[in-house]
Amino acid sequence: MKKLSVSNLLGIKYLQLDDLHLIFETATHFKEVINRPIKKVPSLRDITIANLFFENSTRTKLSFELAEKRLSADVINFSANQSSVSKGESLVDTVNNILAMKVDMIVIRHPSPGASHFLSKKVDSCIINAGDGTHEHPSQALLDTYSLKEKLGNLQGKRIAIIGDILHSRVALSNIYALKILGAEVMLCAPKSLLPKNVDSLGVMSSLDLMEVLNWCDAVNILRVQNERMELNYFPSSREYSQNFGLNGALLKKLKKDIVILHPGPINRGVEITSDVADSDQAIILDQVENGVAIRMAIIYLLGSQLNTTKP
Ligand code: CP
Repeated sequence: MKKLSVSNLLGIKYLQLDDLHLIFETATHFKEVINRPIKKVPSLRDITIANLFFENSTRTKLSFELAEKRLSADVINFSANQSSVSKGESLVDTVNNILAMKVDMIVIRHPSPGASHFLSKKVDSCIINAGDGTHEHPSQALLDTYSLKEKLGNLQGKRIAIIGDILHSRVALSNIYALKILGAEVMLCAPKSLLPKNVDSLGVMSSLDLMEVLNWCDAVNILRVQNERMELNYFPSSREYSQNFGLNGALLKKLKKDIVILHPGPINRGVEITSDVADSDQAIILDQVENGVAIRMAIIYLLGSQLNTTKP
């Protein structure tokens, strides 16, 4: 059986092209499985997985849980606001107590960048990063690039734009890493205040001109403005943001081609994207969600199959 080059999924930064191909190939198999009348396989029935969510989530949490159940794993769920974390328990103590209950794998979302990496050094378990603050969201980038490949084929040389709040976005960084591994050209577009200072070191282009970027790209990944991570005003108003960086039907009509539109969710309709675009045939937002279950099944299956065979 082919193996991943890693024993945790901490970020796309640590993956290689062969890892992405193996995850995509395995996800294609599981996508076929979850479209059967009986959507479940017994592959991981000996494995127990804990989903630890220290930050809110709809898609990622439910998608991981469903993926685990479709693989017949035992699943326990943990939300920080209903736990003894509120009494002052540390992350490492919390996780070691959960592992003492004979849990094999931890899926963690945490507001601190690097939390899953830190945990992987401190505890003896397989760790999957389900989003760590403004750092990485690897399973999202894998489902985004998988969905793009379904639409565009091989991504080598394809032009992919990422538009929105790049500065606070873990989705942007993981997508940049994944797209670069797959050979795509990447252009970022945002108000200057929402572009990271190290943008040149990421090996991508950037522009402040939305129309220029739309004319350039084959597909665009639209990101939400993450007000919850902002202590300052990064632009004058939501109205001004949507006038300059929001995607709407009138802009798409000016293009001489149909571009593919992605959004990781949650969507703020009328801010970064209008409803006519979000609900259009060009948008693959719900395909991304469907593919998310298959991609997460692939990640869990591949890492679960390697348990006890490699060390973190
Ligand atoms: N895309 C994404 O991470 O959505 P959730 O925050 O709902 O999990």
